[in-house]
Amino acid sequence: MNETLERWGSRRAFILAVTGAAVGLGNIWRFPYMTGENGGGAFLLLYIVFVLLLGLPVMMAEIMIGRAGRRSPSQSLAVLARQAGSSEHWRWLGLFGAVTVFCILSFYSVVSGWSIEYLIAAINGNFVDQGPGEVGAFFDGFLADPLRMTFNHTLFLLMTMTVVAAGVSKGLERLNNLMMPLLYLLLVVLAIYAATTDGFAPALNWLFTPDLSAISVGVVLNAMGHAFFTLAVGACALMAYGAYMPDHQSLPRAAGAVAVLDVLVALLAGIAIFSVVFAQGIDPAEGPGLMFVTLPIVFAELPWGSLWLGLFFLLLLLATWTSSINLAEPMVAGLQGLGLRRSRATALIAVSIWLVGILSVLSFSHLEAVHIVAGMNFFELVSSVPSETFLPIGGLLIAVFAAWVVPRETALRALDAGPTGFRLWQGVVRWVSIPLTALVLLSGLI
Ligand code: PHE
Repeated sequence: MNETLERWGSRRAFILAVTGAAVGLGNIWRFPYMTGENGGGAFLLLYIVFVLLLGLPVMMAEIMIGRAGRRSPSQSLAVLARQAGSSEHWRWLGLFGAVTVFCILSFYSVVSGWSIEYLIAAINGNFVDQGPGEVGAFFDGFLADPLRMTFNHTLFLLMTMTVVAAGVSKGLERLNNLMMPLLYLLLVVLAIYAATTDGFAPALNWLFTPDLSAISVGVVLNAMGHAFFTLAVGACALMAYGAYMPDHQSLPRAAGAVAVLDVLVALLAGIAIFSVVFAQGIDPAEGPGLMFVTLPIVFAELPWGSLWLGLFFLLLLLATWTSSINLAEPMVAGLQGLGLRRSRATALIAVSIWLVGILSVLSFSHLEAVHIVAGMNFFELVSSVPSETFLPIGGLLIAVFAAWVVPRETALRALDAGPTGFRLWQGVVRWVSIPLTALVLLSGLI
């Protein structure tokens, strides 16, 4: 159980790495369609409340554990538990996190592959002058073609695993530095353009006027799950990154910056997408295809539309790339902790994820009507249950461990926010985040 010596190059590099993990499909693909399916403004309101009360404090807890342990998630948990005189069974939480990220990455890679398809289509000028009907038909045609989808899924997984095999901090720093600012810029341009369209006012109205009567237990559960998903919290993935966090950096400040950047991306994407939805009369509750059937339409209306669209999918691809690298890291770090070489561990994970991902690919064609539980096919199951239940359960346990088990001195040092900041964080985690997460999970059970 050796302490890791690798560190992110600077404070900025750490913030970029965590933002890279957080910003991805969750913001640009999942947030808009979940908002559309869960009543608009009411969902947005709950999601923001959950980000503030649960996501952010638990994110600090998770990174803090990694930073204090400086090992793979399971090992960090075990070392800190021993230090506190508590049971080493806490290490199983690392395994639970690995199962969660495994499930998520298996579908994440497939959907990220869709971006590859759209990137190529955009460069080829496929969407020039096309309306909702044709864009929708393109999407359906693609989903019905398992071979093309498998090809893209394979390509994306190879991209991810190449960086992971090389060791995270080297490959990732440069990528993040370039991509994040560009992505923001492009989203701002898109949102400004959306402001000139007819759909803008109804989109703002839909997003920012919550209809509280739309709130049900299901909506609350979805919003909570999404808050964890979008911040990459609850699967020990950020714990793995925390192990590489430099000394002397305030954790609350870093985590706060990430949360703000993350929510901002989601809002910009939401504004752009819902402006098209309302301008074109598309159903907001269209589901996982929402982004793919709206964005080609907005871009088609812009001068140089294909170029912008291509650039957008390129940036989205880079954003999902940095997230999937983070999803893979705790599994690889875990196997490495068991004594496997990094390259072997990466290969093993890659093959397993690839195989399970094929089930998601086929869920849009041959296995579409094969319902696993509760009327959900494989893709529907794997893209909802791990995010909506495993992440909050993992987050809850992480919070309990960080705020009740880790010795005060250790936590205080690893949080690096001074005694007052520490007390505030601990109070919020103990008396707000933990009870609230437990309450929502329980109400979902009942
Ligand atoms: N936060 C990532 C996104 O929004 C997904 C993710 C979830 C990454 C959990 C790591 C862990 O796309």
